[in-house]
Amino acid sequence: MSGTSLDGVDAVLVDFTQSCPLEHTCYMPYDAALRAALLALNQRSEDELHRAAVLANRIARLYAESVRRLLDETGINPRQIVAIGCHGQTVRHYPQPENGYSIQLVNGALLAELTGIAVVTDFRSRDIAAGGQGAPLVPAFHQEVFAHSAIDRSIVNIGGIANITCLPVNGHVTGFDCGPGNILLDAWCARHLDTPYDRDGQWGVSGRVIPRLLENLQAFPYFSLPPPKSTGREMFNIDWLQSYLQGDEAAQDVQATLVALTATTIARAVSAYFPEADEIYLCGGGAHNGALVDQLRQGLPASDIKLTNALGIDADWVEACAFAWLAQRAIERAPGNLPDVTGANESRILGAIYPA
Ligand SMILES: Nc1ncnc2c1ncn2[C@@H]1O[C@H](COP(=O)(O)OP(=O)(O)O)[C@@H](O)[C@H]1O
Ligand SMILES: [Mg+2]
Repeated sequence: MSGTSLDGVDAVLVDFTQSCPLEHTCYMPYDAALRAALLALNQRSEDELHRAAVLANRIARLYAESVRRLLDETGINPRQIVAIGCHGQTVRHYPQPENGYSIQLVNGALLAELTGIAVVTDFRSRDIAAGGQGAPLVPAFHQEVFAHSAIDRSIVNIGGIANITCLPVNGHVTGFDCGPGNILLDAWCARHLDTPYDRDGQWGVSGRVIPRLLENLQAFPYFSLPPPKSTGREMFNIDWLQSYLQGDEAAQDVQATLVALTATTIARAVSAYFPEADEIYLCGGGAHNGALVDQLRQGLPASDIKLTNALGIDADWVEACAFAWLAQRAIERAPGNLPDVTGANESRILGAIYPA
C-alpha cells in the first residue's frame, strides 16, 4: 500500500488462514525526489504520460524490493505466496459518473516479472465502472476483521485523507471519505518547517486555533455533502488552503487550525452518520498525532477511542492488510466492494490480475 500522504510503501506478509493474519511488515519511505515527482503528477504538467509510465516502473521496483525483504526476513519461498495485492500510488482520483477514473501508478506486469508472484492491482477502476466512487475500499475488510455482533464500532483511518467505516450491530456497513486527514497538516508543515510531517502534532500544539479561518474551512461544501463520497489531492491541497488565508496568520496558528479542522470534520462525520458508535478504533499514520487524537476524544466524548492494535492489527498496517485481503477476494473471484459504501450499482470482483 502507498497512500495519498506520499510517505512510502507499507508492505505486509499476511496469512488469512490464521486468526492473527499479520506475519511480517516492511516500510520503505519514498525519498524526497520520488515524492516530489509523484506530487508533481497530481497536477497537469508536461509529458505526463511518459513520466507516469517511468514512475510506475520505479514504484514496481520499490514494491518488488519490499516483497524481497519480507521474504528474506521470514525465510519464505515466493512459491508459497498466493499473490501480491498492490494498490499503487494514486496520482488522480476523479470518480464522477461520466468519464470517471482513478489512477494508481504501478507497473503490475513488471512487479509480477520481478517477483515471480501473481499480482492483483487496479482495485478501484471496476467499482467506478459500476457507477461507484472507487473509494473507500477498506470498509469491507474492516467488516471482515473488526465487526462485533453486539457492539457498534466505527473504524477511522487517518491517512492523507480520512475515512470512516460504520459497523452497526443492526444494519448495513457504511463508510466514506470525511475529508483531509494528514494531507494539509503535512503540506503546511513541509512548507514552514521543511519536515514531511508534524511529529506527534507538537508544532500544531504550539499555535492557537484561528476561529474565523476554522469556520470558513468547515463551511467548504464537501463536508456537508451526503455519502457516497470520496476525495483526494484534487480537492484538498495547499492551494485550497491558501485560498482561505489572508497572509498575516502565524504559521503555527494555521497548523493548529488544520488540526482542529481534521478533528472536527471526522467527529462531525461520526456524529452525523453513526452517533451510536460505542467504540471507535483509529488506524493510519494520523493515529500517532497526539494532538489530533486528543481533539477527537473531545469531539466524541460518548465513544471509547482506541487504536486498532486493541483489535489485533497494528494501526500502521491495517490498510496494507486490507489490500492483501482484497487481492485474496479477487483470486477467489469474490466481490470486494460494498455498494452501500462506494455507491456502485452492485458488488463486483475488483482488480486486474497479472498471473505468476
Ligand atoms: N508520529 C507521528 N506524528 C504525527 N503524524 C504522523 C506520525 N507518524 C505518521 N504520521 C502521519 O501519517 C502519515 C502517513 O500515514 P499513512 O497512514 O501512511 O497515510 P497514507 O495512507 O495516506 O499514506 C504521515 O504523512 C504523517 O502525516
Ligand atoms: Mg502511507
